[in-house]
Amino acid sequence: MSQLLEGKIAVVTGGTSGIGLATAKEFIAQGAKVVITGRKKDEVEKTAAEINATGIVSDQGKLTDIDDLVKQVKSTFGLVNILFINAGIVLFSSIEDATEEHFDRIMNINFKGSFFTLSKFLPIIPKGGVVTLLSSINATTGQSNSSVYSASKGALNSLLKVASTELAAKGIRINAVCPGPIATNLLASVGLDNATIQNFASATLNKIPLKRFGKSEEVAKLVTFLSSDDAGFITGSEYVIDGGTNVNSIIG
Ligand SMILES: NC(=O)c1ccc[n+]([C@@H]2O[C@H](COP(=O)([O-])OP(=O)(O)OC[C@H]3O[C@@H](n4cnc5c(N)ncnc54)[C@H](OP(=O)(O)O)[C@@H]3O)[C@@H](O)[C@H]2O)c1
Repeated sequence: MSQLLEGKIAVVTGGTSGIGLATAKEFIAQGAKVVITGRKKDEVEKTAAEINATGIVSDQGKLTDIDDLVKQVKSTFGLVNILFINAGIVLFSSIEDATEEHFDRIMNINFKGSFFTLSKFLPIIPKGGVVTLLSSINATTGQSNSSVYSASKGALNSLLKVASTELAAKGIRINAVCPGPIATNLLASVGLDNATIQNFASATLNKIPLKRFGKSEEVAKLVTFLSSDDAGFITGSEYVIDGGTNVNSIIG
């Protein structure tokens, strides 16, 4: 059977864990050559070796790292057909208590870093290339204590619309995937303790009509479809994958 991404060169930011890792694996299973990034050298090297990808240490929150990443990918592969801008963090604070440090930490990685990853990779994405932005249903929901995180994802959805128009002229498609709660290390990776994560998980579960968390592999399948020629007429669209959470029914 032919593979969906045969011969394609793909870059996945934040590919050492969760959604990024599952997507890198699915891209490889579908025939792509994949570059993964992350901030931790050991993790990047170990994961890349395990899944047969190329690992590059790069912090999406630092513009100099993004420049180096593009340079390395260009010198190794010459171009990128598929770019999955996935790396992101979540931190919680009320609006009243939010500090500049809280604001900058999230925005630098989730929005500024995503923006410049797109901007700086564009010169080496040829006609037929595809970009996917990893947003969130938080972009359009009102979860308390998530204002900066939610705004960082809302900014991606806004960027998507303009980017889809600009990139259409170059024959490049771009879409956003907006997951609801997916079982990953996202909360643990920012230092939340186990009890807090468990409380958060059971409160969240109540809000999901399908009564389970999503799996990274399910998001990976969607990103892979959008990155393939089967999705050739899809650009500028936001794809919600959330077990029905966004429906937010009043009763039942
Ligand atoms: N899990 C969910 O419920 C959910 C829902 C909606 C949206 N999302 C979004 O999905 C994306 C992936 O999250 P996940 O849930 O898969 O979390 P995860 O398991 O914590 O994975 C995050 C990945 O991003 C990397 N990363 C974080 N900051 C980075 C940076 N500055 N530069 C480069 N890599 C960085 C991490 O590696 P290092 O820490 O080693 O750098 C890791 O590989 C995020 O954008 C998140 O906002 C997740």
